[in-house]
Amino acid sequence: MRERTFVMVKPDGVQRGLVGDIVSRFETRGFRICGVKMMKIPRELAERHYEEHKGKPFYEALLLYITSDPVVCMVLDGENVVAVVRTMMGKTNPQDAAPGTIRGDLAQVTGRNVIHGSDSSESAKREINLFFNDYELHNYEKPEEDWLFEK
Ligand code: RTP
Ligand code: MG
Repeated sequence: MRERTFVMVKPDGVQRGLVGDIVSRFETRGFRICGVKMMKIPRELAERHYEEHKGKPFYEALLLYITSDPVVCMVLDGENVVAVVRTMMGKTNPQDAAPGTIRGDLAQVTGRNVIHGSDSSESAKREINLFFNDYELHNYEKPEEDWLFEK
């Protein structure tokens, strides 16, 4: 199923110069970048984004971390892209993340795990609407797609 997902390089990923590596993995996989932007997330937006974690012990630290410095947000389009990006990210705790995954290659601890990706199609729709306006998202033609998919 062709769909979209929301991905964010977290502040540690930006500060450590990992944006290029991470975006490159998605580009070479063949996903289409529909939108991309940098922002310092306002506290209110962070609260809405992570509302499922409100009340958990790590919630306050998570909000401080995610609002501390700029992040790079993007929307990717591809075949089953929500689940595939989660697989490419690796487990939440980088110590459990397989080598070859983003967290398994680039991070050490849960609280600095360099990337966020939507965990379901419903979350993806919600998060894309939270972070992007319609005019920031694009469905341009990518000729290489003739070679990525069967006709
Ligand atoms: P994310 O939402 O950021 O893509 O990560 P995830 O789905 O793999 O993990 P989730 O359970 O949604 O947790 C969100 C983020 O909160 C931080 N966290 N810290 N100290 C802890 O026990 C703990 N648990 C989660 C991580 O930054 C995690 O990515
Ligand atoms: Mg999550």
